[in-house]
Amino acid sequence: MDKGDAAGMTRRVRLVGDGVENPANARALMDSAAMFGVQCAFRDTRGLMAAWDVERGGELELIDTPGLLDQEWPIVAVETNPQASIVFGATLPGTQSSIIVGGERLGIRADLLRAAARTVRIPMSGRGINTLNVAAAAAVALYYLIAGRGLAPRLAKRPEERRPALLLSRPQDHVEAGSAIRSAAAFGWRTVGLDDSSKVWYGVSHVVAAEGRAAARSHRNRIRVLPMTTSTNLAFRRVVVAGALVDGPPIHRVDLAGHDTLLVIPDERKRGSIQRFKDLGAWLEPARIDISVPGFPYRYRLMATIVMAEAVRQIGFRPAGQPRQAPRRGLTYESTLSTVATGAAEEVDPAVLKTF
Ligand SMILES: C[S@@+](CC[C@H](N)C(=O)[O-])C[C@H]1O[C@@H](n2cnc3c(N)ncnc32)[C@H](O)[C@@H]1O
Repeated sequence: MDKGDAAGMTRRVRLVGDGVENPANARALMDSAAMFGVQCAFRDTRGLMAAWDVERGGELELIDTPGLLDQEWPIVAVETNPQASIVFGATLPGTQSSIIVGGERLGIRADLLRAAARTVRIPMSGRGINTLNVAAAAAVALYYLIAGRGLAPRLAKRPEERRPALLLSRPQDHVEAGSAIRSAAAFGWRTVGLDDSSKVWYGVSHVVAAEGRAAARSHRNRIRVLPMTTSTNLAFRRVVVAGALVDGPPIHRVDLAGHDTLLVIPDERKRGSIQRFKDLGAWLEPARIDISVPGFPYRYRLMATIVMAEAVRQIGFRPAGQPRQAPRRGLTYESTLSTVATGAAEEVDPAVLKTF
């Protein structure tokens, strides 16, 4: 599909999944593409078509290697490669591009990485998990390469002290919830609040619980998931509610950083006024993710990961060569979050998050 930009130029972009294996991830990738009005195709090297159910997933569009190496469609590889440029501030190479993401286990294959005009990465600072779900990574890449072009990373002396607390509010499905928790862990949050009023995470059936949490294997890198409700006391100075259906200024114009800030990401399939979050802090602010495609398919993990990526961009990065500064005592979002928790934290193992 054609997309125009501010200069009136017509751009054509396609999202390509290279060697994606899991049909549910392929379906989520199609939703990522549809959210930004671009085509979606797959290079099927790992049996995706054989596992595909057209009735559940719709038509699967395939693309072969010569089609992908067509010079008319320069490749932008989205990969965890440390040499890649950071996605914030990155642009597309021309009026036509293939944006490629890789399969769950092997990533983008070497032939496409070699052919790429540019490679971009989404900065990660997780302990034990340093990749996003493939569809979530695609949504972030499309957001910054298409919709949020030119939003450069900020510099900060002590980024960790600027990290806001995070509340995932009422995810409607356990896989979307698990994927959003994975994103939080990979972006470096060590604790997240979860309002599980829709009962997809805590106290669910054995099968879902096993899929969602499994047995913890290592203590060191776990992320703490704190149960919360939205009717708690005024613990935070600011509460920012971010989403695509929220009525407010664009998210890149709203300050998301600060340890006294609570960033709330509601699942917007369950509509409701943002006023329901007013008791969580002294000051409530809306922040809108600009998605220009009418009636786009809504997926919680995609929205949540875009919001977290924007928070990470705003928290900032230490200037190159500047050593990590010793943390100042007492300045942490985690202690405030703990005061509004409604129960004991659940520790989730990174090995489990990789399954989302
Ligand atoms: C789950 S990852 C692949 C994991 C990879 N084999 C590994 O363990 O390092 C699947 C795909 O998502 C995309 N992806 C995930 N996290 C990313 C990040 N931080 N930056 C860029 N791409 C990412 C890449 O396209 C990657 O090939």
